[in-house]
Amino acid sequence: MNPDIERVLVTEAEIAQSVKKLGQEISQDYQGRKPLVIGILKGSVIFMSDLVRQMSVDLELDFMAVSSYGASTESSGVVKIIKDLDRVVEGRDLIIVEDIVDTGRTLAYLKQLLANRNAASIKIVALLNKESRREVAIQADYIGFEIDDLFVVGYGMDYSDQYRGLPYIGVLKEDVYK
Ligand code: IMP
Repeated sequence: MNPDIERVLVTEAEIAQSVKKLGQEISQDYQGRKPLVIGILKGSVIFMSDLVRQMSVDLELDFMAVSSYGASTESSGVVKIIKDLDRVVEGRDLIIVEDIVDTGRTLAYLKQLLANRNAASIKIVALLNKESRREVAIQADYIGFEIDDLFVVGYGMDYSDQYRGLPYIGVLKEDVYK
């Protein structure tokens, strides 16, 4: 195991099982439609690539990049668009794929932004949910795992752009970021 990881919170096998279930559930809900699946860079990329391979409906992919924590583990509360979508979203069924919902600020902002562009529908799928940290009233429609107030890395999630490639979700040792 990576020496900066205190413990594994969600194993590779548990992730795979959850992603499969999410893919099946979403596919059932979107039968006969062609959703635009929107990945929020960079944290959701690994989750998104596994998720869409568990989905059986026709879909398109697009990406957005927003400002994140930088090298800190606390949200600044300011959301800035660094890369916008390539596709027009008007009239489309959107599925936003996020790695983790923490304060909820990022998703609240993005959902409003996309709603203003007249999407037909907007749903959110999040691999992880930190309910106890929520500052803005927003809920993901599909959630992989509820987790406690811990800073986690791996499976796409980072601290200072590191650890994204770990195949599991781990709790980062506090002395790495304190
Ligand atoms: P929110 O706007 O506070 O909900 O923050 C959401 C974003 O913060 C996520 O998409 C992640 O990029 C990042 N984030 C929140 N918690 C963690 C964590 O525990 N590990 C890594 N990134 C996190």
